[in-house]
Amino acid sequence: MPTVLSGVTIRDQILNELKPRLAALPRPPGLAVVLIGHDPGSEVYVRNKIKACADLGIYSDKLTPPEDISTAGMRDIIAELNARPDIDGILVQMPLPKQIDSRAVLEAVAADKDADGFHPTNVGHLVAGRPAPRACTPAGIIEMLKRYGIDPAGKHAVVVGRSDIVGKPMGLLLLHANATVTICHSRTANLAEECRRADILVAAIGKPALVTADFIKPGAVVIDVGMNRIADPTAAKGTRLIGDVDPDAMATVSSAYTPVPGGVGPLTIAMLMSNTVELAERRLRKPS
Ligand code: GUN
Repeated sequence: MPTVLSGVTIRDQILNELKPRLAALPRPPGLAVVLIGHDPGSEVYVRNKIKACADLGIYSDKLTPPEDISTAGMRDIIAELNARPDIDGILVQMPLPKQIDSRAVLEAVAADKDADGFHPTNVGHLVAGRPAPRACTPAGIIEMLKRYGIDPAGKHAVVVGRSDIVGKPMGLLLLHANATVTICHSRTANLAEECRRADILVAAIGKPALVTADFIKPGAVVIDVGMNRIADPTAAKGTRLIGDVDPDAMATVSSAYTPVPGGVGPLTIAMLMSNTVELAERRLRKPS
């Protein structure tokens, strides 16, 4: 029977370890969350992030600018947050509406308030392997592997997906953990064959159950980042969540896997809390 890698267990460990660090700070850390529009997925993520702050004792401020805001308008909002002494971390929920230049907005966030690790300076630090806030989902996955005693060193890790939020930072973090890394994407030839070479397979594609049993080497560790809501007339709400990997395939072919839900999802929020505490510690340590 494969090991079920529980994101809930690891999240609780990470959050408990943050409590003494929070208690040692002269004031609670502050996180600003900017949400534009009504994307149902983003609304759920943001609600969960705000709740995690409240549960842990982190001050949070949710900003919901109008859906037709311009890039310049967003930059003004970010500039105000950059200047606020009670805010240590800023998170702009992605994706942004089409009229907004996402890159310009992410660049406007002060690198030392970048709770998501998306600022180019922090991406540069990631590439160089230097300490800086890391993208929360891949950082959470590394933390989970560590805590389950799964060492990527010398293993072949295959990441499916090349997004700035998950795929690219995941590949780099696995590389820094001494894995041999392949990053696959929509133009990869023979995707199943590439995936079958993986000792550690990370699926971050956003397509329900795209990865089937024939993609998985027997005994591989499978990390499913997907969160796809699909119609299911037999489910109470008429829909259900499914990952990027066929759940039966993971449960029969892998040696360890993350379930959906309850796998990677809780880790992302735990690492956001961790990044926010870290940013507050650095800010409050600095002489003003
Ligand atoms: N959209 C999907 N995942 C994320 C994330 O980790 N951070 C932000 N800001 N937006 C997202």
